[in-house]
Amino acid sequence: MPFLKQGSNESRHLMQTLHLKDRDEDLKLAADLLKNGELVAIPTETVYGLAADAKNGVAVKNIFKAKGRPADNPLIVHIAHRDQLNELVADVPPMAQTLVRAFWPGPLTMIFKKASCIPDEVSAGLDTVAVRMPSHPIARRIIELSCPLAAPSANRSGIPSPTEAARVAEDMDGRIAAVVDGGACEVGVESTVVDVTGDCVRVLRPGAVTVEMLTQVVGNVEVDEAVTHELQAGATVSSPGMKYKHYAPNARVVLVKGSPDAYTAYVNEHTAEGVMALCFDGEGNDLRVPFLTYGTREDHTAQAQRLFEALRVLDEQHATIAYTACPSPDGIGLAVYNRLLRAAGFEVIELD
Ligand code: TXA
Ligand code: MG
Repeated sequence: MPFLKQGSNESRHLMQTLHLKDRDEDLKLAADLLKNGELVAIPTETVYGLAADAKNGVAVKNIFKAKGRPADNPLIVHIAHRDQLNELVADVPPMAQTLVRAFWPGPLTMIFKKASCIPDEVSAGLDTVAVRMPSHPIARRIIELSCPLAAPSANRSGIPSPTEAARVAEDMDGRIAAVVDGGACEVGVESTVVDVTGDCVRVLRPGAVTVEMLTQVVGNVEVDEAVTHELQAGATVSSPGMKYKHYAPNARVVLVKGSPDAYTAYVNEHTAEGVMALCFDGEGNDLRVPFLTYGTREDHTAQAQRLFEALRVLDEQHATIAYTACPSPDGIGLAVYNRLLRAAGFEVIELD
């Protein structure tokens, strides 16, 4: 039974959030809740998503409330079958069909001209809609049992996306009907977002479907300037998510670019109460501050898997500043670099 609790400056409904597991009766319950307009957090191969029936504008509006998300930042619609795409979009350009065959199901989101059934709450007033077909079996099963689902990452707006059900519960308990626990997410960073409404594929957000992989399949691929550069005030954005501070722990993240030795020397010159280091596996031994690691320097896949959890642990350990070793921006490393740039608010120190 929902009950009313006084918030600090607003009254909001708090409810008992069900913690569901990967078993048939729980997935059916999750699907029933979604069909009834409730919010359910579900695992995907990238990060946990906060899902609602994509065609139910009221339910979708509640996603924005639960997350504290700005209303002008549109959501991705998740589908389980290729047929579902046709009802959600106005047209599937040939280049998008090629990408569907190559990368779906999987961590690739495409932006299409939207069909009229997409509520304005999903597209945030744009005439386009983002669609992806996740590969995670639990996400697919729940969509099959319910309907296409609008789902942003299941974090409170602005902080790192959750890659484990316990992190979703930290952010969302009392605000949503249920969380389905599917264990740790395999990829760890959100899907690659590409715009397919123009003449060539344009990457708006890098992810596990890399620029290199896209180029192999469609030839010409553009990467939006905002992937690696700070937007100037007032600049027009291709993807509203680009303009917000993102993935940021409470700690001030400072990205440090340089060799392992230069990084270590820099951090050791800046020791103080609350300073921590976020570095690569095997590179922390000579640091004179507490440190966490997020994969080896070469292993971009592990970096992606571990980054968001590491950012959350920094807060648990009350870091005030986190000097973070900078990943190289190739392959899925570009996604890791992109998330860290935003976590750091583009504060980058270039050594050597
Ligand atoms: O891996 C993922 O994509 C996860 C899982 C849950 O599927 N979802 C996710 O959603 O990361 P979210 O809402 O956190 O990020 C969606 C991004 C935002 O940057 C948003 O601005 C952009 O996609 N986006 C959504 N619809 C768009 C549209 N029509 N045009 C341009 N950008 C769009
Ligand atoms: Mg997000």
